[in-house]
Amino acid sequence: MAAITQFPAAFEICKPFMLTDQQMQEIVVRLNKEINMGLGRDTHARAVVKCYITHVHDLPSGNERGRFLALDLGGTNFRVLLVTLSSDSDVDILSKSYVMDKSLLVGPGRALFDFIAECLSNFCKEQNIDKEEMPLGFTFSFPVQQIGLDKGILTSWTKGFKCEGVIGKNVVELLQHAIERRGDVKIKIVAILNDTTGTLVSCAYKQRNCRIGLIVGTGSNACYMERTGNTEMYEGYQTSNKPNMIVNTEWGAFGDNGVLDFVRTSYDKRIDQESINPHKQTFEKCISGMYMGELVRLIIVDLMEQGAIFKNLKSQSIYEKWRFETSFISEIESDEPGHHRNCANILDQLGIRGATDNDMQCVQAICETISTRSAKLVSCGLVCLINKMNAKDCAIGIDGGVYRFHPKYHDLLVDNMTKLLRGSAKFELLLSEDGSGRGAALIASVAASRKK
Ligand code: GLC
Repeated sequence: MAAITQFPAAFEICKPFMLTDQQMQEIVVRLNKEINMGLGRDTHARAVVKCYITHVHDLPSGNERGRFLALDLGGTNFRVLLVTLSSDSDVDILSKSYVMDKSLLVGPGRALFDFIAECLSNFCKEQNIDKEEMPLGFTFSFPVQQIGLDKGILTSWTKGFKCEGVIGKNVVELLQHAIERRGDVKIKIVAILNDTTGTLVSCAYKQRNCRIGLIVGTGSNACYMERTGNTEMYEGYQTSNKPNMIVNTEWGAFGDNGVLDFVRTSYDKRIDQESINPHKQTFEKCISGMYMGELVRLIIVDLMEQGAIFKNLKSQSIYEKWRFETSFISEIESDEPGHHRNCANILDQLGIRGATDNDMQCVQAICETISTRSAKLVSCGLVCLINKMNAKDCAIGIDGGVYRFHPKYHDLLVDNMTKLLRGSAKFELLLSEDGSGRGAALIASVAASRKK
């Protein structure tokens, strides 16, 4: 792979994205401080990394049994799943994805929940479970202040969602009401959870030492096992006999108060201004799939304007906002060394024909710069959590398209985390299979048995 240094104009633009070891160590320190603020009773209100308590104390025992519905909402698709837990190793999942029209993401909340209820009802009818009482675990991947396992108040929308009338409301109730308005299925929402929580719980089902759940997809976030005594926002934090509680950090918001400005680039600021949630989700905007492609696009456009790439070639599409998808980065970086088959295909899709090998090497090097920075930032986050838990040997369950499809992301995380940890802890990164669905069913099973 060509080094970015071979392309002076691109190198000039990309330099500020290249995090030094010292900057990374500083990020770890700053995140730790923000997390402590989120956990603390006196500091929580003004904290930006909210560290929401989840009311999930226990990792699965392996004895969970039963049939549960799960709902996974958090990206542009949402899924309904029927999960059957029948033995500690046997989980049967039947699922269906539904595409949501973009207008639903920014329209009235009631339309969103009515649409979800309609899909749920269709799914139950197809599976012949519409007459059965079905407990449902709701994976709702947005910042939620959880009042209990089955009660959660949306505090803000992220990732391109902006539905009116939902912030400040209990989303479980909004969905339950939508289901009841239809009245054609007997679904009871028993638990609400974040996708990171689902990922951690479902990974822990297989790997007992799993302590962190991570998502690097459309958005980015992580949850971890905190000592209950430190979760000061939990009423019973001093008296609970449960030693641990999963905390949903909502680390995407890290930096919203300016503490990451020392590493943000002018491109990050532009992305932020173009987004539907300016000044929010600063860390996420440097990391996740919703934004990585756009960063690459902005850099390419600037180089074109300087005449440093694609000389004499024209493309309308490259000037369209959000047109360069993050999946392109994974594809371009998957090209065999010395070949540019994927890159040429993608440029072709963008209407750029006749790019030179040099141009394509440059595009590849830009992609590498953006994905490497993303992985470095996530590494800082994970190392911060490992240090915080004082974990000596822990597994991390991971989901999300960026981690799943990028050819080098896993190795980038391993290398950077190893460097930052300097031998102080061992860790293992595990791809989670269907964490949101399986995790939702496991938590629904805990909730259902608590109710009994
Ligand atoms: C966003 C959401 C968060 C979620 C993450 C990954 O950061 O706010 O709740 O976990 O995306 O989907």
